[in-house]
Amino acid sequence: GKIKFDYSNAKDFIRDHEIDMIEKQVADAKEYLLSRKGPGNDFLGWIDLPVDYDKEEFARIKKAAEKIKSDSDVLVVIGIGGSYLGSRAVIEGLSNNFNNKLDKEVRKAPEVYFAGHNISGTYVKQLIDVIGDRDFSVNVISKSGTTTEPGIAFRIFKKLLKDKYGKEEANKRIYATTDKARGALKTLATDEGYETFVVPDDVGGRFTVLTAVGLLPIAAAGIDIDEFVKGFQDGREMFLNAPFNENPAMLYAAIRNILMRRGKGMEILANYEPNLHFISEWWKQLYGESEGKDGKGIFPASVDFSTDLHSLGQFIQDGSSNHFETVLNVEEPELDIVLEAEENDLDGLNYLAGKTMNFVNQNAMKGTILAHVDGGVPNLRFDIPKMDAYHLAQLFYTFESACGMSGYLNCVNPFDQPGVEAYKKNMFALLGKPGFEDRREDLLKRL
Ligand code: PA5
Repeated sequence: GKIKFDYSNAKDFIRDHEIDMIEKQVADAKEYLLSRKGPGNDFLGWIDLPVDYDKEEFARIKKAAEKIKSDSDVLVVIGIGGSYLGSRAVIEGLSNNFNNKLDKEVRKAPEVYFAGHNISGTYVKQLIDVIGDRDFSVNVISKSGTTTEPGIAFRIFKKLLKDKYGKEEANKRIYATTDKARGALKTLATDEGYETFVVPDDVGGRFTVLTAVGLLPIAAAGIDIDEFVKGFQDGREMFLNAPFNENPAMLYAAIRNILMRRGKGMEILANYEPNLHFISEWWKQLYGESEGKDGKGIFPASVDFSTDLHSLGQFIQDGSSNHFETVLNVEEPELDIVLEAEENDLDGLNYLAGKTMNFVNQNAMKGTILAHVDGGVPNLRFDIPKMDAYHLAQLFYTFESACGMSGYLNCVNPFDQPGVEAYKKNMFALLGKPGFEDRREDLLKRL
């Protein structure tokens, strides 16, 4: 099936002529992308990646994944931002909610843990304890090869591997995904003989889920990457060829920009399945880094329902009204449970006997959408037939292509991220990194 975009619950908030007029602007933005004439045009490799990927490397990824599955109980994936969110979103989105707790025979893949996306000593110490004396491998992912968080984590896990296996075997358990020619990690990988995979030059971090950055951890976690590629291909076909009214990426770019121009400065992505949590985290990076610049943009936020209906639900319904909501609706969840009647109906839930949890969840969603609409919150919805590698990939390509168009609609370069450097400079200065002495003095005066 195909994912669909529905904005019927936003129609009362917009006028027909807004859609008519923005349709042409979206078509222009799409043309800018495809003709590669817009800003950031050296980072458009993601557009054709689903058909233009490196087939030789793809085969090597599968082989490496098989090796990791056969010789490791645990895989530690080290990376941050675009070098981790895609694989985490897919692995958690498509796996059992309690995946790392299952027997290895059931999972048929190693436990996967992420590191290098924070600077917490507690987190790393506890992860080392979780690995214990079990066999493990490391996939270190950094395009630049110089990012502080993954750099620190890699030092620690590299040493752990070396102490456990000796240098030669340790080097066979390290998989490095980085720039094809440049950077500290590339140099180290060449010196030590790690197997390496490439972050393509023309694909920015947040668009890399279909490169080795995403694919190696995803394949090692036992997920079918052929289906993932197929979903990306079909997502691309839809973006390229579907008419405006049946084109989820174009419609989504259009409607969210109409709403933004009407003063809706925040978008809340909502799900009703807990294992979609990291899909929202991935989406937040994609849209936040792409659009939040030059004093402009929609702030991307997310909620997990029905959990957060008991916390942020109050605000969404009734608080200051600068937001709209986009719901990820999984039409056919993987599993279900039928509710039974109890002899003594003390909690008053017997009226649900014979109904399933998914039936309850679906109605929670439908009721919430209408309540939020009544509270002045325009509602958009993506209908995803099933949560599998194929459909998730369609959704990802749709979000990526919509993001490119959406940025162009707002006249920003969606493919750079100048704002992420400011905190790093301050951190380096405070840590005493050579070369940052002047800034250090200025900052210390302010502390
Ligand atoms: O989108 C981005 O560019 C960032 O989020 C990067 O992906 C992140 O900072 C990690 O960078 P690197 O892969 O160079 O370690």
